[in-house]
Formats: sequence, structure tokens, C-alpha cells
Amino acid sequence: MRAPYSAYAGVYDRSGQTRFGEAMARITIEWLASQEFQPGSVLDLATGTGAAALAFAREGLVTTGLDRSPEMLAQAAEKARSEQLPITLFEADMRAFEIETPTELVTAFFDSVNYLISDQDLAACFRAVEQALTPGGWFVFDANTIERYRQAWNDSTEIAFQDDYTLVIYRSSFDPVTGVSPLLLTTFERIDPEGDLWRRWDETHIERGYPLAEIERLLAEAGLEQVSVEALNERAMTLEGPATERSARAVFFAQKPASPE
Ligand SMILES: C[S@@+](CC[C@H](N)C(=O)[O-])C[C@H]1O[C@@H](n2cnc3c(N)ncnc32)[C@H](O)[C@@H]1O
Repeated sequence: MRAPYSAYAGVYDRSGQTRFGEAMARITIEWLASQEFQPGSVLDLATGTGAAALAFAREGLVTTGLDRSPEMLAQAAEKARSEQLPITLFEADMRAFEIETPTELVTAFFDSVNYLISDQDLAACFRAVEQALTPGGWFVFDANTIERYRQAWNDSTEIAFQDDYTLVIYRSSFDPVTGVSPLLLTTFERIDPEGDLWRRWDETHIERGYPLAEIERLLAEAGLEQVSVEALNERAMTLEGPATERSARAVFFAQKPASPE
């Protein structure tokens, strides 16, 4: 069994996974503009191969990304190099990180916070975010709801991606008592382009769905004011109005209070 994202890192971009983060960067900038907030800097948590981080950097934001997977970070670094985008990337756990200079925006996209599978982990992440933000700064992230795991991940087998050289299979289940949803991700890659030799890798990815109210409570405990929770239409990549427990994915917009005058 391999560490999560160690083998999958090489397939992630090819299988179209960057579209989500790129769209979330656009949605975030547009939503913040509607609040008359234009961030000059961003820290993208669980940045992966840097989909959102690169999009932010292209918009001129001073951009930092962290992730715990060195393989995902290596992909992000290579892309930043080839586009000559000055992004700072570092390996860290989003439950325990520090940055030297506070940032005006922290983001975490594509169910990255669902990888935190206990209230304590989520609380630790939110506290670290609060510390990293400038007063008045924003934390924007999406989360799969319990409904998403119940409907789409329970007892599910899916061919997530295939081409002539690669086959990615997702097998997942869902425990309604704990909200935890383990996903076994199997990647086959053809070793000899002309022949029938394939290499197989297995990774276990564990996510958890939280009630929206639980996320709101933990944000408040960390000192972050939740301003809006929007349902995401994932086909159109647009916000659809207030999220409910029936939504598949919610986008949270939370703010660190500005310093008193
Ligand atoms: C679904 S990917 C999303 C990547 C990227 N945000 C995007 O939109 O494409 C989830 C990422 O979360 C990272 N991750 C999971 N748990 C983490 C943790 N505790 N600390 C830092 N990164 C973590 C994984 O390594 C992976 O890159």
C-alpha cells in the first residue's frame, strides 16, 4: 500500500483534476470582489499539484502553497517553474503549520478539509488558519457534505480515469455513524507502451463528512466568523445560494475579524 497521492500524483493532472481548483480560484476572487476585498496574498492549503495556487499567481497574488505529499508538491513546483510563476511551496500538515508573514487569504479546495477525519484535526487546522491570517483576512474552502458520501461514495466502484496507458479505479464505502468514507484508489500504468505489462499501485484515501453546523461551530471556536456557506453547482462551477445538508458540496467563506480601531 502506498501513501495517499504518491502514485496518483503522476496521474492527477492528466485525469482532469485541476479544473476544480482553477474554477475555485476564480469563484473565490469574484466572491471576494463582491465584498470589496482584493487580496494581495494567498496561502493555499493542501495545494496538491497547485491548480488553484497557479491560478492565483497568474492573477498577481503573492502565492504560497503547502501540502503533505512531496509527490504532489513536485508536480506543482515543475509547473510553476515552466510558467515562471514565483510560488513558494512547502511540505507541511494543514493541522500544524506556521508562516512567517501573515496572509490576506487562506484557501483549501477539492474536499481537502474532508481529509481531516476528527473534530480535533479540523479544529487544529482552523486555529492554524486563524494564526496565519491578517486581521480582516478571509478563509475560503469547500467541503463534501455527509449527503455526498451517502449518495455517491457508499458501496461505489468507479473507473475514475482511463486512457491507453493508465487506468484509475475508485472503490469507496461510507459509515453513516462516523461519517467516515474510505476510498481505495488503484492505479494501473502500462510499463511497456507496445506490450501488456502493467504496474499496479494501491492507495487508501480516507475522508469524512461533517454536519455543516459542526464546521460552523469549529470555525467560531477558532475565532473565524462565518459569513456565507454556499452550495456549489459542480457542473457549471457556480455558487447556487445557501447550502443545506442536502447539498453535495458547500463552500465556506469565513473571515478573521478586523482589529478594533
Ligand atoms: C483532492 S486533493 C486537492 C488538491 C488541490 N487542492 C486541488 O484542488 O487540486 C487533496 C490534497 O490534500 C492533501 N492533504 C490531505 N491531508 C493533508 C494534510 N493533513 N495536510 C496537508 N495536505 C493534506 C493531499 O496530499 C492532496 O494533495
